[in-house]
Amino acid sequence: MNALQSYKRIEKPLILAIESSCDDTSAAVIRDTQLLANLISTQTVHQQYGGVVPELASRAHLSNIVPVVAEVLRMAEVQVQDLDAIAFTRGPGLMGALLVGVSFAKGLALATGAKLLEVNHLQGHILSPFLQTSEDVRTPRFPFLSLLVSGGHTQLVVVRNPLEMQLLGQTIDDAAGEAFDKCAKVMGLPYPGGPHIDRLAKLGNPLAFSFTRPYLQGLDFSFSGLKTSFLYLLQRELQKDPDFVEKYREDLCASLQFTILDILMRKLRKAIKQTGIRQVAIGGGVAANEGLRNAVANLGQEMHVEVFIPERRFTTDNAAMIAIAGLFKFRAGLFSDQSVKAVPRASVELMQLSQ
Ligand code: KG4
Ligand code: ZN
Repeated sequence: MNALQSYKRIEKPLILAIESSCDDTSAAVIRDTQLLANLISTQTVHQQYGGVVPELASRAHLSNIVPVVAEVLRMAEVQVQDLDAIAFTRGPGLMGALLVGVSFAKGLALATGAKLLEVNHLQGHILSPFLQTSEDVRTPRFPFLSLLVSGGHTQLVVVRNPLEMQLLGQTIDDAAGEAFDKCAKVMGLPYPGGPHIDRLAKLGNPLAFSFTRPYLQGLDFSFSGLKTSFLYLLQRELQKDPDFVEKYREDLCASLQFTILDILMRKLRKAIKQTGIRQVAIGGGVAANEGLRNAVANLGQEMHVEVFIPERRFTTDNAAMIAIAGLFKFRAGLFSDQSVKAVPRASVELMQLSQ
């Protein structure tokens, strides 16, 4: 290879990314910020248990990872030996699930000579607005404020640059996604409940029922009181009428979603006022919620801030977001070596995870 070719390779690196932190086995390929392919294999085995069973997740990742990676390389029309780097989710997540992705990435790096890029899953969600799928994707400028809402996390983060994040506030108990999922479960909806509540909420009255809202100072969140309040309402009403949930499912979903979004939006408003930052992004599975997307867009108009809402497919767990977070580390020369291990718990602020 001549000098010009090798210069080009570093200028626009070709990166394969692997995400296996929970119940989605995903792989993606990017060339610089351009997404070439993103494939997600969602594990359905957990549905019958009403939540993710860690051991089953690890086993499903094991059987999925080779075909998913092979397919994504085929979709991207690239050869494995042309990869400049392999990005992978190091944590946080389920230990056994992470292990599969980490081990696979290390093995492939060893075989191909590609560099290794460890990625903090939370930072992947936060950096997802930088994925380029067309010419006209707007990207935030730094610093921007990120509302990260997933199944395990609810956080407000200042992103000073792709390699420096500061946590402003977070949930002190359940995550927003957990509130959706747990309340959905008591209504008999399948796991994960968030998308079902999103769909049913559109058909109901958001003011039909009211639930406990937390009174927390600062920028922290709480959702466990809401969950209990929801559960008590159901128990009380079901004693009077066994068909209560059946009859009022849409209203229950609309009212619950309204309350969750209200809790999130109040804190987001407060964070914008407190920091003076005029660029706001959202990320994480709950950012797929249509009500939240609309609420954030409206907030942008109301407060004259610029909002960045990633495409829906980049909100729930996916490897494309791991690829873009990996790219920023590639540019900074932040590589990992073969001693890197999975880390199940990690702060959003950590760029290189310790053990
Ligand atoms: O980011 P994610 O895919 O996984 C974690 O890192 O946790 O988020 C999953 C969470 C689940 O709680 C799921 O119910 C929620 O995101 N979710 C939604 C929607 N789509 C996924 N919640 C509300 N509305 C949705 N449309
Ligand atoms: Zn996630």
